[in-house]
Amino acid sequence: MNASASVSNAGSHAPVGIFDSGLGGLSVLRAVRAQLPGEAILYAADSLYAPYGERDEDFIADRTLAIGEWLVKQGAKALVVACNTATAQSIALVREKLPIPLVGVEPGVKPAALQSKTRVAGVLATQVTLRSARFQALLERYASDCRFLCQPGHGLVQAVERCDVGSDELRALLRGYLQPMLDAGADTLVLGCTHYPFLDAAIRDIVGDRLMLIDTSVAIARQLERVLEQHGLRAPPQGAGSVPPRFYSTGDGTHQQQLAATLLHIDTTVEQVSIPSPRTAAPDSQAA
Ligand code: DGL
Repeated sequence: MNASASVSNAGSHAPVGIFDSGLGGLSVLRAVRAQLPGEAILYAADSLYAPYGERDEDFIADRTLAIGEWLVKQGAKALVVACNTATAQSIALVREKLPIPLVGVEPGVKPAALQSKTRVAGVLATQVTLRSARFQALLERYASDCRFLCQPGHGLVQAVERCDVGSDELRALLRGYLQPMLDAGADTLVLGCTHYPFLDAAIRDIVGDRLMLIDTSVAIARQLERVLEQHGLRAPPQGAGSVPPRFYSTGDGTHQQQLAATLLHIDTTVEQVSIPSPRTAAPDSQAA
């Protein structure tokens, strides 16, 4: 949080903002609702500009900041950047600029290094995440006695964005990424993108029990709980599920609604919103 700014939405009744390039952050929302059922949630998906994983650094920082500012204006008391790619590229900048506490996400390299028995672990994440200085530093810290096989998950975010979590094409794509990990003796797979937990059934069909899947969404929810407590921002206890989340999208929201209904069992409407940013005001803004 920007030390010079005060928390503007300090009321503990205020909602928590959760943001992702698209639908992946819904896997984090699921964990946050389980851990903190009394918290109201505003979920913003930047689906118009997803996937971020193939965009440049400035674009990702520009969008992350614009959406963070928009969520602050909607009254968010804290922000979860539920996107590994956006965290890797822009968390420091956004933390500096926003007047509310932030929680970012990162691939679960540490739990993988702690749990792998064969000392070989696969990491599936976006190209941008894998190339980022933040991820490389994480790898350096934990890779001394564990080999990490890093695989960009090209095409996987796009599949989840169109609600494809099990087609033949998707399974073939996944098999191409996972078989080399199995062949190299991996026993652990880091799901380094918040979209990928929605592919767990398809992954399981391919790898069976041979890979332990590391999904950090529960750890993120616990971290959010700690941060809210530190800032005196925890909502007063209420019945589980008593506060329905509110969903926003810069896209048309159809797939968000569908995924929330089929995978999270939340029947909701998604409000389409326009969140301009300096980069998307440019005429070539749709170009990656
Ligand atoms: N859910 C985002 C992540 O965790 C996906 C990034 C993208 O849009 O490519 O990295």
